[in-house]
Amino acid sequence: MSVLFDRFTLKDIELRNRIAVPPMCQYSAIDGLSNDWHLAHYTGMARGGAGLVIVEATGVSPEGRISPGCLGLWSDDHIPGLAQIAAAIKKAGAVPGIQIAHAGRKASANRPWEGDDHITAGDARGWQTISPSAIAFGGDLSQVPQEMSLADIHRVTADFAAAAQRARAAGFEWLELHFAHGYLAQSFFSTHANQRTDQYGGNLENRSRFLLETLAAVRHVWPENLPLAARFGVIEYDGRDEQTLAESIQLSKQFRTNGLDFLSVSIGFSTPTANIPWAPAFLAPIAEQVRNQTGLPVASAWGFSTPQLAEQAIANQQLDLVMIGRPHLANPHWPYHAARELGVEKSAWILPAPYAHWLERYRS
Ligand SMILES: Cc1cc2nc3c(=O)[nH]c(=O)nc-3n(C[C@H](O)[C@H](O)[C@H](O)COP(=O)(O)O)c2cc1C
Repeated sequence: MSVLFDRFTLKDIELRNRIAVPPMCQYSAIDGLSNDWHLAHYTGMARGGAGLVIVEATGVSPEGRISPGCLGLWSDDHIPGLAQIAAAIKKAGAVPGIQIAHAGRKASANRPWEGDDHITAGDARGWQTISPSAIAFGGDLSQVPQEMSLADIHRVTADFAAAAQRARAAGFEWLELHFAHGYLAQSFFSTHANQRTDQYGGNLENRSRFLLETLAAVRHVWPENLPLAARFGVIEYDGRDEQTLAESIQLSKQFRTNGLDFLSVSIGFSTPTANIPWAPAFLAPIAEQVRNQTGLPVASAWGFSTPQLAEQAIANQQLDLVMIGRPHLANPHWPYHAARELGVEKSAWILPAPYAHWLERYRS
């Protein structure tokens, strides 16, 4: 009997299975506004059968976008388009989630298929980035960010709370704070990016402050009965992993006592010189450690490339949800194929009625 197709309940929300579509930027918005591409893309993902579909990193401010093509939630004008997407995801039987984000020193970048590097200075499409310290990421992302003032820090925290309120107004039922991947929040946590000497830099307590204040501001406005999640890079693979992981777990425990409901365990991506041991499902043991030591339910992504790997991670109680990213881009009906491969009974297959009639009966 497959456990990947077991239901999962968190707060007032029930997912139809343990498969989630992680946030994946589409770089296809203009002025942060969603369009027919996003609607078709997210509707397709939800019709494919995942229990949770999380809309891509959505900027809490214009300067918080990774690229000029990223979605935004810094104004009420962004709500109607996203409301259509949230409703379509829900109608297809998945729970609509959204990731809200500030890209910090990695913002103002070209689309991945147009270079993935910083937009050159003087190009009107780009903007001045901000970060805890005036230290560039490096590699292709060489723009030196402006060090944030205390006013900047408080403004961004307020932007996260306002974006959370708009996400709720748009009908999302699962909110994920982007605290990972070398973007702004991760940059406060990581000494690769944060060399401040005030109360937002230095020891662990100070490097945790922006993340905890942002969590508190969002928790205050996000409904108690709905899941509040964060994606957090708990490890950098930079040779200091034992210490980073211990600090990450300590902060994650605080996340939990401060009202976080769920953690998506990911990588820090705070330095271009990391040596990441890419392999199928390689983060599962790390996620398991975080789960066991914090008591938080967790998900992870990165290379759960077969239904068997996803099934094992749930069966071995390493993960509560499995994020299936690129396989969903290749095949939005990944859950249907996984169900068949794992021998799940037909009643648990998830197919829209106009497809189910044909795919359940005629199997040649
Ligand atoms: C096209 C694309 C866009 C992505 N955008 C985001 C994003 O907006 N936020 C995020 O946290 N991760 C993002 N990621 C990372 C994915 O969420 C996921 O962690 C990654 O694809 C690894 O999972 P996979 O091996 O199942 O693809 C993106 C990945 C891809 C391929």
